[in-house]
Amino acid sequence: MLKITSLACLSLFVLRCIGQTASGLVPKKYLSLPLGTIKPAGWLSDQLKVQAAGLAGHEHEFYNYVSDSDWTGGTSAYSDIEEAGSYWFNGLVPTGVLAEDAAIKNQTQSFLDYVLDHQDSTGWIGPEVNTTKPRYLWGRYLFLLGAIQVVEADPSQADRVVGAIWKFVQLANTMLNNNNEGLEEWAEARWMEFALTLQWLYENYPNGQEDLLINMMQKLKSTGSPWEDIFAEANFPKSATDGMTSPFGDLSWHGVNIAEALKSFAVSYRFTQNSTELDVASAAWDIVFQYHGRPSGSFAADEFLAGLEAVRGSELCMVVETMFSCVLTLLVAMVVSRWRRGSYLYQVIGDLKYADRVERITYNALPATLTGNMWSRQYLQQQNQVAAKNMNPDPFPRDGSYSNVFGLEPNYPCCTVNHPQGWPKFVSNAFVVTSDQSSLVHVYLGPYSVNTTLSDNNHVAVTVDTLYPFSDTLTTTVTADKPFTYYIRIPSWTSNGTVSVNDSAVQAVSPSNGLQSVAVAAGTTKITLNLPAEITTEERPHGAIAVHRGALNYAFDIPRNQTVLAQNAQQPLAVDLQFDATAAWQYAINPSTLTFHVGTPEGGKLPSPVFDSGLSPFTISVSACPINWALAGDTFTAAPPQSPACIGSPVNITLSPYGTTRLRISEFPVYSA
Ligand SMILES: *[C@@H]1O[C@H](CO)[C@@H](O)[C@H](O)[C@H]1NC(C)=O
Ligand SMILES: *[C@@H]1O[C@H](CO)[C@@H](O)[C@H](O)[C@H]1NC(C)=O
Ligand SMILES: *[C@@H]1O[C@H](CO)[C@@H](O)[C@H](O)[C@H]1NC(C)=O
Ligand SMILES: *[C@@H]1O[C@H](CO)[C@@H](O)[C@H](O)[C@H]1NC(C)=O
Ligand SMILES: *[C@@H]1O[C@H](CO)[C@@H](O)[C@H](O)[C@H]1NC(C)=O
Ligand SMILES: *[C@@H]1O[C@H](CO)[C@@H](O)[C@H](O)[C@H]1NC(C)=O
Ligand SMILES: *[C@@H]1O[C@H](CO)[C@@H](O)[C@H](O)[C@H]1NC(C)=O
Ligand SMILES: *[C@@H]1O[C@H](CO)[C@@H](O)[C@H](O)[C@H]1NC(C)=O
Repeated sequence: MLKITSLACLSLFVLRCIGQTASGLVPKKYLSLPLGTIKPAGWLSDQLKVQAAGLAGHEHEFYNYVSDSDWTGGTSAYSDIEEAGSYWFNGLVPTGVLAEDAAIKNQTQSFLDYVLDHQDSTGWIGPEVNTTKPRYLWGRYLFLLGAIQVVEADPSQADRVVGAIWKFVQLANTMLNNNNEGLEEWAEARWMEFALTLQWLYENYPNGQEDLLINMMQKLKSTGSPWEDIFAEANFPKSATDGMTSPFGDLSWHGVNIAEALKSFAVSYRFTQNSTELDVASAAWDIVFQYHGRPSGSFAADEFLAGLEAVRGSELCMVVETMFSCVLTLLVAMVVSRWRRGSYLYQVIGDLKYADRVERITYNALPATLTGNMWSRQYLQQQNQVAAKNMNPDPFPRDGSYSNVFGLEPNYPCCTVNHPQGWPKFVSNAFVVTSDQSSLVHVYLGPYSVNTTLSDNNHVAVTVDTLYPFSDTLTTTVTADKPFTYYIRIPSWTSNGTVSVNDSAVQAVSPSNGLQSVAVAAGTTKITLNLPAEITTEERPHGAIAVHRGALNYAFDIPRNQTVLAQNAQQPLAVDLQFDATAAWQYAINPSTLTFHVGTPEGGKLPSPVFDSGLSPFTISVSACPINWALAGDTFTAAPPQSPACIGSPVNITLSPYGTTRLRISEFPVYSA
């Protein structure tokens, strides 16, 4: 059987599978745990509850795109491809499970039941059933990702859900073979989202149809956007794309498509078995961030790739999709085996730059672009953002002037229905298991509890007690039936990190490929990690700098007042908010004076919600002098002035974690005393 050939080839490691005719799916070296196995604890549990109590957890009660009981998906042109309900489902299934919110779980179950009960005899799912509406595949892909999570969290539903997925997949296969029926430009750009479901079926419910699944993956890739060419050095735009024309069509430089496509090589590698794709993946990640990257961890695209200027926008959908692509790339990149000095070395773990980036985006760009209570969200966030309001002139050439308002659906509705996947998918991927299932790896640092069974029937329960990223200390308690090796990722920014097991002598961490291993014994083992970091500065355009320490980017939190621009008639908490600066923000800083401060949170707990002004126990102080720094419109800054003159005496200002700021300067001009 073809599949066996390929597995054998891979398990030997000494063979390169490139060029071999075998088909099949490269197994993942690291496995995800089913949704619900990893639970958020401490402040992170609170964050999920804030999301459940906010717009994400309530929009189905009043928001037209997702409140229709028959999943008609609203009435505007936006609903042509019928993605709204599907997006919502994909993010709310894990929100309900991880926030342990019975009402949300009930709602996602009702939605699932409705959709499956109305699947038509051909296998089609969605609001087109019994209508003459054209049938596009794309809007279904997110529904399928949500349905997979339902099965993981509640295996008792597997028969029914997997049966329905298979029926749809058979229909989709027929459609693809019928002159690519059901594909349009969004489906072509985002082909890998469907391949994920096909790979999940292959691994869990192949029904003897492995060849059909592999053929479909190949078909989707071959009809998909040519991402390898789009990301190639020779073609990739090195600046804002305003006024430029992509040789691959407009959607190839579309921010959310880029964010999703960043995982395409890892997804593709699994069925092409061409490990060069992992190098292409790594280069694609690098080129995006080199030319469009943000200190917040995200990149800039105010609809289309937008370069490095601090007032250009990063879309919320793009933030959560980049996180998800990063999570998946890491899982696959971990299997990479490479040629080194005449022999094939098995690399236990791939490039942990992906994991560092997931943390940066999650702890900076994601919380910054919603209000603390998560009821209002932006479409676009700016790294330097001195006002959030209807902009005139508009700094975003191809997005609306209302894009950085915090509200229900500024600019487009997509981020209202798509943002909920961010936090829960971060949590549900925070630990992975080695493919032999003997070890557990803590990848994304924060407070959690995990209870699972490893190989050899080894029952393991882990709790991680920490305020991280608002603390450097993590206390992990592992209770195991039998000894095993526990791994913890040590972020690349760690400096002088230490580990202590069972309160024994404190030792310097000694990570191998980014992972610290701890030999855990039977019984209860306590692991204490201290992971400090130096303050670092990042060079930005115009001689400006950004300030980081550990996972957090630091910004000057501009004092603000707020104006309610709109309020939903049914849900008064769903407000559109304008923020205006009420104090000066025109400062240059002296980087030699950057000083880190640790406050003591009351009762040892972070406030709820934590991502708002003045709530972080971590701050950085710096000497700053007032400068002339013009606005470029009424509501956004000109580029940071280079080597500005001080126009007043230096003062001491406080920088706060970017994710706690709504108005901010994060790319600062520099002066030296
Ligand atoms: C569950 O959902 C159904 C259908 O929407 C609704 O009638 C019922 O009241 C809900 N129950 C709870 C506990 O929310
Ligand atoms: C579609 O319409 C047919 C004929 O009216 C009906 O029998 C069938 O139940 C409908 N299917 C769904 C899923 O509503
Ligand atoms: C392997 O992948 C690389 C990068 O996508 C591609 O250029 C090359 O043609 C592929 N090789 C084969 C044998 O398909
Ligand atoms: C882990 O789960 C098992 C089975 O559900 C349960 O018996 C056990 O008490 C749990 N352990 C911890 C530490 O939560
Ligand atoms: C840590 O101490 C506990 C209690 O004495 C013991 O059961 C466990 O095996 C120890 N772990 C290690 C790694 O020594
Ligand atoms: C790391 O240790 C060196 C040498 O003791 C010290 O100078 C530096 O400040 C320490 N850095 C951190 C982040 O603790
Ligand atoms: C907010 O502050 C600005 C600047 O001081 C002021 O012009 C504006 O009137 C204030 N708005 C509100 C709603 O207080
Ligand atoms: C700046 O402010 C911080 C926080 O209030 C304080 O700890 C620090 O000593 C101040 N630095 C100077 C130079 O005044």
